[in-house]
Amino acid sequence: MVEIARGLEGITVAETRLGFIDGQKGILRYCGYPIEELAKHSTFEETAWLLWNNALPTKAQLQRFDQQLKKNRALPKLMLEILPKVVKQRKDVAAMDVLRTGISALGTLYDSDISQEALRKKAIGIFAKAPTIIATLHRIREGKKPVPPDPKLGHAANFLYMLTGKKPDPEAAKIIDTCLVLHAEHGFNASTFAARVTCSTLSDLHAAITSAIGTLKGPLHGGANIAAQKQIREIGKPERAEKYVLAKLAKKERIMGFGHRVYKVKDPRAIILERYAGQLAKKSKEPEIFAIQQKVEEVVVREKGEKGIHANVDFYSGTTYHYLGIPAYLYPTIFALARIAGWIAHCFEQYADNRLIRPRGHYVGPVKQNYVPLGRR
Ligand code: COA
Repeated sequence: MVEIARGLEGITVAETRLGFIDGQKGILRYCGYPIEELAKHSTFEETAWLLWNNALPTKAQLQRFDQQLKKNRALPKLMLEILPKVVKQRKDVAAMDVLRTGISALGTLYDSDISQEALRKKAIGIFAKAPTIIATLHRIREGKKPVPPDPKLGHAANFLYMLTGKKPDPEAAKIIDTCLVLHAEHGFNASTFAARVTCSTLSDLHAAITSAIGTLKGPLHGGANIAAQKQIREIGKPERAEKYVLAKLAKKERIMGFGHRVYKVKDPRAIILERYAGQLAKKSKEPEIFAIQQKVEEVVVREKGEKGIHANVDFYSGTTYHYLGIPAYLYPTIFALARIAGWIAHCFEQYADNRLIRPRGHYVGPVKQNYVPLGRR
């Protein structure tokens, strides 16, 4: 008898010092630090440093890291040639495909060195350039000129600046920064696992991050934030939410932005994002989007809460981005910009204590068949 863990549920594959998750109590900590505290006091740059070094940086360490990131934001010529071609080829190209292609193209400029020193250097380049890739895509898609990075701005504020060409207001920059902190790390989720599998073959860092972006794209993972927003738009009005949710559940369809492999209570990140979405809704001309969400959550929790189905990180993130003026097609890429911090930290861990990841499948096909030549079939 072979016991099969479908979807690898419940399987522990390695030790990690990065993310601690208690899915029953709704706890998430990075290297022991509660995300609520990091959301309040930290920045995304500091959180990335924490994850890459398993410790909070000193002021001098953080300053140095910040300088290195700022110096590495601009895209090399190759990428500035490839990205416009990719974007112009297909108007509705998925933003995640462009990000994946951008990181993959960046990787062609490096050798496959996975020494500590090379990994750190490559990590800085990937982390610093990812927002520039997304912003470049957006500007080209809008028929506008890409905006060069501004070294006076932090990672999140500069991202917003490169998207819009306008200096973001401090509240918007703080909210995006916090969103990046909240999405930075989450244990052995599918995309992180994909990155680790790639590292486990001793392939290089760009290959690992490219694998991870491809994996995050799916609607059951990082693509859920777009799907959740699509459902909210389909509902259209708060008073239609109950009927919509009940009809979907009756057909055994999923309500996007709900449910989680690990959390059986409300995702602690959703609690913080809900606060931001609510805060922004009050100032928005479209407060009904948030009102619809609140109603959807009420009905889903009433119907499925006992089964452990609650709002996850993707439910309120899209609304927050929408209120900040970010178009929906970019939502999964913001998730990726953030998770790059965690992916890289996991790659460092994997390389430092590697064993090839290679599970087995249980063969259930015919035991043995005799080959029939093509002409006799
Ligand atoms: N809406 C309605 N029912 C849901 C649900 C949702 N969003 N998520 C899970 N369920 C139900 C399933 O229908 C299943 O019910 P059953 O036992 O009666 O068949 C049960 O909960 C378990 O679902 P399963 O798909 O086995 O759980 P999983 O751990 O493999 O899946 C997710 C986790 C995240 C893929 C899943 O919850 C999902 O598809 N959610 C929507 C997409 C999403 O928001 N993803 C972002 C995650 S951060």
